Amino acid sequence: MQKLIIKGRKEINGKISISGSKNATLPILAASILSNRVQLKNIPLVKDIFTMVELLNFIGLKTKTSKKNNTIEIINNEKNINTLAPYRLVKTMRAGVLVLGSLLTKYGKAKVSLPGGCAIGTRPVDLHLFALKKLGAKIKIKDGYIFAEAKKGLKGAKIRFPSISVGATENALLAATKAKGVTVLKNCAIEPEIKELIIFLKKLGLIIYLKGRTITVKQKKLKETKIIHRIMFDRIELGTYMIASALITKKSVTIDKISPKIVNCEIKLLRKIGVPIIVKKNLVIIKKSKKLKKINISTKPYPNFPTDLQAQLMVLLTQANGTSKIREEIFENRFMHVPELKRMGAQIFIKNKTAIIKGPTRLTGAEVMATDLRASVSLVLAGLVAENRTVINRIYHLDRGYEFLERKLKNCKAKIKRV
Ligand code: UD1
Repeated sequence: MQKLIIKGRKEINGKISISGSKNATLPILAASILSNRVQLKNIPLVKDIFTMVELLNFIGLKTKTSKKNNTIEIINNEKNINTLAPYRLVKTMRAGVLVLGSLLTKYGKAKVSLPGGCAIGTRPVDLHLFALKKLGAKIKIKDGYIFAEAKKGLKGAKIRFPSISVGATENALLAATKAKGVTVLKNCAIEPEIKELIIFLKKLGLIIYLKGRTITVKQKKLKETKIIHRIMFDRIELGTYMIASALITKKSVTIDKISPKIVNCEIKLLRKIGVPIIVKKNLVIIKKSKKLKKINISTKPYPNFPTDLQAQLMVLLTQANGTSKIREEIFENRFMHVPELKRMGAQIFIKNKTAIIKGPTRLTGAEVMATDLRASVSLVLAGLVAENRTVINRIYHLDRGYEFLERKLKNCKAKIKRV
């Protein structure tokens, strides 16, 4: 099994270019089922994307990925379509459940494995199914699978989500594309990746309005021409490298191929902590901080601070002066990095949904274990700032979502290697 070895306290300086967004690519890949021919540019070459592509192939779509150009061509010639998403492809990557909306609306039926729980919490799909039922789907759960059917097609409806979910909003949007009449979705997630899905669906010919947390979908005959779309940058990858730079740069790190206004909340927060950031049109420059200050923050849906940066922020706060608090409001079990950070010397205490972080503490290298995608990268950040050597086990979690992580950090002179 592969490990990462990091020799800590080596200052990083230089430039990092951000890859395409994993969480924007996944629902757009699911949306490709609706089209005949799609070309996506700037896709990240990470495990979750390969798993989703494998799922599209299983369903019967033809795909051709160019690793050299980070592009993928997807063709749906409507031959031998299999409206099934098997357990083996959904269990490792929950976003597989997003093919449900596309398959059901286009082919009138779908059998999709229940994704089950994962390390960060139970992660049910009740909100996805709630929306599909409102659109007229008949749904049965049997043998670990969702059986969904809409023999006469789905029908537009007004749906208010009882709570905000990224995946449920995406699945409902996908299902609404071919539902008869108008669909109005209220209390939606409005993450940038959802706005990106809307841009893609508009290219397909749909009329979609977004106002506040309400999305209105007016159905239209979908275009049959080839759709070309360039995927937005990965805002979580950007946030991760902004925090890495804040932790360990000597001079500065320039992070480019981004749009800073999308990460307004993160930039404001880091500045409040004391990280000097220069913002330009398509890049940010992170300078060495003089003194980091404590902060209290909660994770919340966009446009607020994302749960996907909670673990990374926690590492930064171990270096801040005073006691900080982070309240995790999205997932019930997302503090699994804490015991590992404690083994490296961090002083962190958990009280219900809140982590209390005492700083500044000197972190020292240790052998640690990755437990999920974002927890893993927080251990990389801790390794960069810790004294001596850190060994991170189970790094397959990292490969699910970070493209060329070692290469990007090595280019900035970090001492990191995979063995
Ligand atoms: C997406 C992101 C993930 C991010 C999360 C929150 C992708 C591929 N993944 O995950 O990286 O951490 O948003 O920003 O884009 N919930 C229910 N019932 C449901 C669905 C969700 O109770 O049917 C709960 C979840 O357990 C969680 C909360 O709603 O507590 C938010 O989850 P959701 O926004 O759905 O996350 P995902 O779409 O799975």
